[in-house]
Amino acid sequence: MSDFNVEELLLQLTTKEKAKLLSLKDFWHTADIPRLSIPSLRFSDGPNGVRVTAGTGLGATFNTELLTRAGELMSLEAKHKGVHVILGPTCNIQRGPLGGRGFESFSEDPLLSGLASAAIINGIQATEGMSATIKHFVGNDLEDERNFVNSIITERALREIYLLPFQLAVKYSNPACFMTAYNKVNGVHVSQSKRLLQEIVRDEWEWDGLLMSDWFGVYSLKESLDASLDLECPGEAIMRKPEPMKHAISNREVNLNVIDERVRHVLELIKRGVSTGIPENAPEDDLNNTPETSAKLLEVAREAVVLLKNEGNILPLSKKETVAVIGPSGKIGRINGGGSASLNAYYNVSIFDGVSKKLEKEPPFALGCSIDENLYDFGKFVTHENGAKKGAYYKIYKEPADAANRTLVEEFALDSTKYWLFDYKNPAFPDDLFYMDIEGEFTPEVSGEYNIHVSCVGTTLFYLDDEMVIDDKTNQKLAPPKLGSSSVGDTKAFYFDASKSYKFKILFGSGPTFTCPTDEIFAHGGGSLEVTIDKKDTDENRIKEAVELASTVDKVILCTGTSADYESEGFDRKHMDLPGAQDELIEAVLAVNPNVIIVNQSGTPVTMPWADKVKGIVQGWFNGCESGNAIADVLYNDYNPSGKLSLTFPKRVEDNPAFLTFKSNNGECIYGEDVFVGYRFYEKTKTEPLFAFGYGLSYTDFKIENLSVELKGEDVVVSVDVTNTGSFAGQEVVQFYVAPPKTTTIVERPLKELKGFKKVAIEAGATVKVTVEVPIKYSCSYYDSERQRWAIEAGDYTAIVGNSSDSADLLTAPISIDKTSYWTGI
Ligand code: BGC
Repeated sequence: MSDFNVEELLLQLTTKEKAKLLSLKDFWHTADIPRLSIPSLRFSDGPNGVRVTAGTGLGATFNTELLTRAGELMSLEAKHKGVHVILGPTCNIQRGPLGGRGFESFSEDPLLSGLASAAIINGIQATEGMSATIKHFVGNDLEDERNFVNSIITERALREIYLLPFQLAVKYSNPACFMTAYNKVNGVHVSQSKRLLQEIVRDEWEWDGLLMSDWFGVYSLKESLDASLDLECPGEAIMRKPEPMKHAISNREVNLNVIDERVRHVLELIKRGVSTGIPENAPEDDLNNTPETSAKLLEVAREAVVLLKNEGNILPLSKKETVAVIGPSGKIGRINGGGSASLNAYYNVSIFDGVSKKLEKEPPFALGCSIDENLYDFGKFVTHENGAKKGAYYKIYKEPADAANRTLVEEFALDSTKYWLFDYKNPAFPDDLFYMDIEGEFTPEVSGEYNIHVSCVGTTLFYLDDEMVIDDKTNQKLAPPKLGSSSVGDTKAFYFDASKSYKFKILFGSGPTFTCPTDEIFAHGGGSLEVTIDKKDTDENRIKEAVELASTVDKVILCTGTSADYESEGFDRKHMDLPGAQDELIEAVLAVNPNVIIVNQSGTPVTMPWADKVKGIVQGWFNGCESGNAIADVLYNDYNPSGKLSLTFPKRVEDNPAFLTFKSNNGECIYGEDVFVGYRFYEKTKTEPLFAFGYGLSYTDFKIENLSVELKGEDVVVSVDVTNTGSFAGQEVVQFYVAPPKTTTIVERPLKELKGFKKVAIEAGATVKVTVEVPIKYSCSYYDSERQRWAIEAGDYTAIVGNSSDSADLLTAPISIDKTSYWTGI
């Protein structure tokens, strides 16, 4: 790929070629114009392979330098996957705990969200030419009816809460791309909102990058082009098809200047992609799966972990104590939520694995109860080549299994039988029609009855020892849609003997063989497959076993949480409770052993009715490939916890600000809590949360004192002395909030708002001076929706500094503003 001059190319492109550039050519690639040597760029979520901690965990690090390093790591991984444009970070806002995609975004607080986004974007874009995409702009804060829900948001809340993270990202990082949200905001779909895209992002913020749609998120031709949406994703286009485009351009329904401006942005992005040096259609490799990568992932994952309770110093654990690992998240690494943010990571360390590495021998384990609705990925438990190699063996053919002659196109081993193939493209299958034979052996760890489930988009026959035992081909039925369609499939029980090995074979026909009619507008591509397994048992039995085990050890590490089945793109959480019988399990274990440490892995808050009774609580998030190692390091004090909650954990779901309005009601969702999102609401309504925003413990103690606040030029400069008064080295987060003038009457304002923060490492006994500088305009403004400007109201503000939003010893100092002033822009 070689460099080019955008303006010269614009002169040479035909209208048809320009039209072609305004949508992707397939799921992940920009259109190429070989005649003019314009190459194609690759986009990717993730990117794949390296699985960094999910959004809320990244937010909980409160460490922007670390997040920049995480961004650099994403960029390195992108290079290994031949990717030029990363489709992240996600920086929507958790209005409440039930967002299906809440785990992907950083925080309920717009400042933390904006600074975290900027830090990651700076890391990604530190690699020359690599592009980040901030998403989903804007108001995609719930999944319910996401393509047409109208997020009804006051101008002030829109500015102060929902736009602010994007605005800060533009100010502090300049992302190459924005991705528009699926939903409407105040009546207009964002992907065609001139007000949001052209007037705010481009004109007011003076941002000049590329605006792309979310996947299948363009709903108009003219409006989206006029609104300044550059790129329709994915391809082949639905709205920007060649014929309608030609028609709209030739009759000047869309102005030529508009087309040129859109194409200019696409060409500029391609030019930028070229400068990465990553070749077009580059092969993907796994070479970034190195100890250095693991070390970086571990660093991020450890800083995300939040110690919420440590009564009687039950933590850290000593290696001399006997422990049991119990719980449905003990042996399964909960590394990410579901949907496009999930991916096949290189590896996945569970808490059990992490704890085992700390001890001379593996600790005893009990499942306690099962939460995995969809059973477990069968591919994780199987082998091929007679037990010699992990995973199943795949062969992809052009013809079905019963054809006389078959053409083998691809073969590989994979430790999964649960995935989407919507975007699987191979020139050998221009119509996405192919057939996969998946084979291997299953050798159970324990004898007993197991459920095996098969469902797909396509057709599937499942064989055990050459006998066809599950048929998801004849009489397929359509399941209610989740993220996309699937067959209902079938679940059957089989007895397996642990002394034996069973041969299995899966014959899969790709998407086009699917026999259920669906009303999805897009093609299913290669389809999807899900073959899962679980040992048949009752939770009653599992709890009994867990209780027996718990009574034999000094301390119990009880691993609770949700999973990608409960927190996912495509739907919101039904409730905030721990799924399944986990609360019951905790109570039962507590009855026989008071030394229980709950390690909870979820992307968003869960109800903890037992919080008063357990001695230790650790929030482990969906914490990437190194999840289990990070948590074990915290449990055994190989890392002193330093994470702080990036969102409030309420006591009850009913307490949360969006409780009444977290749903699409006939296509409308009123953001009724207005600017009072998260702690802004809990504080104003004096609703005591279970754990407050910004809260998190350490094994050492810190004292924050000597607050000084001064106005220097355009900035508020806040400094404090932080002393580590305990006996371990540790990190503390200094949090700077501002309270509005008491005399303020113009608008109802939160009691205080986060305006800055800094994480510092301090040796035991040492004192460090910490300074936080924040522009006055970002410290004191509210958005005046009448004047359509930010307003810095004259009055006496209060600077508030502490290590949590609800710290008992918050320090305060006045900030005085003598003249009211207004501003726009960034
Ligand atoms: C998601 C985006 C994602 C895109 C491509 C959509 O369903 O909303 O966040 O980048 O798919 O996978």
